Amino acid sequence: MTILLTGAAGFIGMHVAQALLARGERVVGVDNLTPYYDVRLKQARLERLQTQAGFSFVQADVADRDVMLPLAASRPEVTRVVHLAAQPGVRHSLVDPFAYVEANVMGQLVMLEFARRQPRLEHLVYASSSSVYGGNRKLPFAESDRVDHPVSLYAATKRSAELISESYAHLFGLSQTGLRFFTVYGPWGRPDMAPWMFADAIISGRPVTLYDGGRLKRDFTFVDDIVAGVLGCLDHPAEGARPRVLNIGNNRSVEVRHFVEVLESALGRRAVIVDTPRPATDVEETFADISAIQALCGFTPRTPIEVGVPRFASWYLSWREGG
Ligand SMILES: NC(=O)c1ccc[n+]([C@@H]2O[C@H](COP(=O)([O-])OP(=O)(O)OC[C@H]3O[C@@H](n4cnc5c(N)ncnc54)[C@H](O)[C@@H]3O)[C@@H](O)[C@H]2O)c1
Repeated sequence: MTILLTGAAGFIGMHVAQALLARGERVVGVDNLTPYYDVRLKQARLERLQTQAGFSFVQADVADRDVMLPLAASRPEVTRVVHLAAQPGVRHSLVDPFAYVEANVMGQLVMLEFARRQPRLEHLVYASSSSVYGGNRKLPFAESDRVDHPVSLYAATKRSAELISESYAHLFGLSQTGLRFFTVYGPWGRPDMAPWMFADAIISGRPVTLYDGGRLKRDFTFVDDIVAGVLGCLDHPAEGARPRVLNIGNNRSVEVRHFVEVLESALGRRAVIVDTPRPATDVEETFADISAIQALCGFTPRTPIEVGVPRFASWYLSWREGG
């Protein structure tokens, strides 16, 4: 099977590519290596993939229809698409709003047009986000909950992408699954996300900034569990006209302060905590109801933070020392 994977040089994309290659699939990776965070990290991920048989890479912007649509014609062997490329980060969407609409909304539309032109396409799996639940208070978050009050532009673009996908399923019978990821962490993670920023501050002896005293709660999900869920869904195409949107999380909501305690013990150093109010872009709690994805493909998260955080910490320390 040949899978086109966008965001292949990204955190989740690299892990998904590795798992697909490990089971003998061919992967066409697409990424524009945007400099939102250190491009050396993206290049290092890519270098790992490029040493493996079955991987090829196209450097391209998924929002660029003049490049992406001809790519569909030149790759008729593609039967599945995993679309993970996006402009991530809730707070940065205050700084560069246009990048979010371009990558996450136009990018989604172009990938749907790409999929529509793919003669043998069986399934498109794309990344959405737990942020679509906004400030919802009913927990855990379930797919049937209302999701029309985003608290960040990032969330609004992810929800827009889901709606655009739904229209394509209705109009063209395109088989799709949207996955609402809940705070993913692990080796090769993102420097703009809390686990990395906390580790960096702890090791450098700088204060760790915690919102609302670290009482915010997140459903931290280890990347290997995410990969298992992405592959499980990819192997179960949705009925064309009935698009699926599924939560994919750890199903355990953990106080950020506790996450930092586990990280402190993994790094062998104490954090100096600075307390600050929660910004308007960040929600109080995320917590995934995963019964739907469990029923579809047997998805079962296996990595509690007591196991996943030390694995992240040891990778982080080796990356800091030069890879
Ligand atoms: N990591 C998380 O906790 C999390 C949570 C919710 C949703 N998501 C979603 O999962 C997906 C993967 O996230 P990630 O954490 O791996 O992020 P990432 O930034 O590490 O990976 C995204 C990749 O997409 C690439 N990219 C960005 N814009 C592009 C464009 N226009 N064209 C081509 N490539 C482009 C980037 O260069 C990057 O390598 C994203 O859609 C993100 O919104 C992630």
